Amino acid sequence: MNEQVESIATTAQPAEAAPMPVPEFPKRVLLDLVTDCNLKCPMCIVHGETDDPRLKEFLKKSMTVENAKQVLDELMAAKPLMMPGMWSEPTMNPNFKTHITQMKERGLTVAMNTNGLKINADMAQFLVDVKFDSVFFSVDAMTPETLQKVRGITKLELLHKAVELLMTTRGNNPLPRIGVSMTLQPANRHEREAFVEFWTKKVDVVRVGEIYEHGKFSGFNATGSRVPCQSLYTTLPVNTNGNVSLCCLDGFNEYNMGNVFKDGVKGVWHGPKLTAMRKLHERGQWDKIPICKTCDRWSSYQYEDIVEEGLLVRRTAEYTYYNRIDRIKNWHENLHGTHGDPHKKLQEAGCCT
Ligand SMILES: C[S@@+](CC[C@H](N)C(=O)[O-])C[C@H]1O[C@@H](n2cnc3c(N)ncnc32)[C@H](O)[C@@H]1O
Ligand code: SF4
Ligand code: SF4
Repeated sequence: MNEQVESIATTAQPAEAAPMPVPEFPKRVLLDLVTDCNLKCPMCIVHGETDDPRLKEFLKKSMTVENAKQVLDELMAAKPLMMPGMWSEPTMNPNFKTHITQMKERGLTVAMNTNGLKINADMAQFLVDVKFDSVFFSVDAMTPETLQKVRGITKLELLHKAVELLMTTRGNNPLPRIGVSMTLQPANRHEREAFVEFWTKKVDVVRVGEIYEHGKFSGFNATGSRVPCQSLYTTLPVNTNGNVSLCCLDGFNEYNMGNVFKDGVKGVWHGPKLTAMRKLHERGQWDKIPICKTCDRWSSYQYEDIVEEGLLVRRTAEYTYYNRIDRIKNWHENLHGTHGDPHKKLQEAGCCT
């Protein structure tokens, strides 16, 4: 194996694998603060089809600060990575700052994706003051024409300004770690190289990911024997009403795993529904779960690290992260999530960190 290539976050399992250990608490919790969004990106599996009958029912809901507090109180000792959103724009929760403050007051690490439209001077100052850990701006395009196709707007300069504002407000503070992302699809794939080249000169990290559409990730082919999906052992996706989705791809919560406001995090995480889903995966019976049958994310939990041109490039089948080595320090341990420490690879490559 190439010395520059390191595996791996997961251990390959045969199709009829033994039960996999389930940690006492999930390592990553997606706490959806709001169901609304101020964009309607055509690619979005929730907001993209504006005439989807499920959407009307889904919209106009927010998680209350009290309900979130109950979940945080139960979780805080386990210190999972918190992500305050799923298929929505987290900054649209009217109590966004209170929600984030109560996460940070409990010593939790918080990371979010945002479309950037609500990042004004006040919000940027808040994110710096509260020591928000990681903010990824979804920019997705290099030209207004492409932005129109992937995000439904043309004002690329607004997104650039939002990124710059957070960068300047952060100044010499280490946090938040600031990234920019691109979800690859036919409309923007040709801009990938220019996007990475442009943004790696500005922000700490650039993420390029494949699009999920029609029940699968169209940009890669899963290879090797199928294994139980890591998401079921690492991640708890909580909707605004406390109902838990199977995974983040279950955007409309069609597979309800229980309710954390009623049964607590532990009650759902170790409850009968999620346990049954894990068993089906361990027995290789993913075809009994329609959403899992066609999904190929299970193959995307292994990663390789490559050091090149001042970047630590971390690749899975679904994502590539271009991490600037000179800004690697704010990629602190609690932000590694389900991935591992990059420092070993950097030391092997002779980079001081
Ligand atoms: C669903 S959004 C939620 C947060 C925020 N509204 C935003 O756009 O960043 C999180 C990320 O998912 C990406 N995304 C949207 N639709 C997708 C799809 N069909 N497949 C994969 N990623 C998608 C977005 O580009 C964004 O980077
Ligand atoms: S901004 Fe995010 S949540 Fe909103 S429509 Fe676009 S991808 Fe979906
Ligand atoms: S296989 Fe896909 S749909 Fe099933 S739990 Fe994993 S990510 Fe979700």
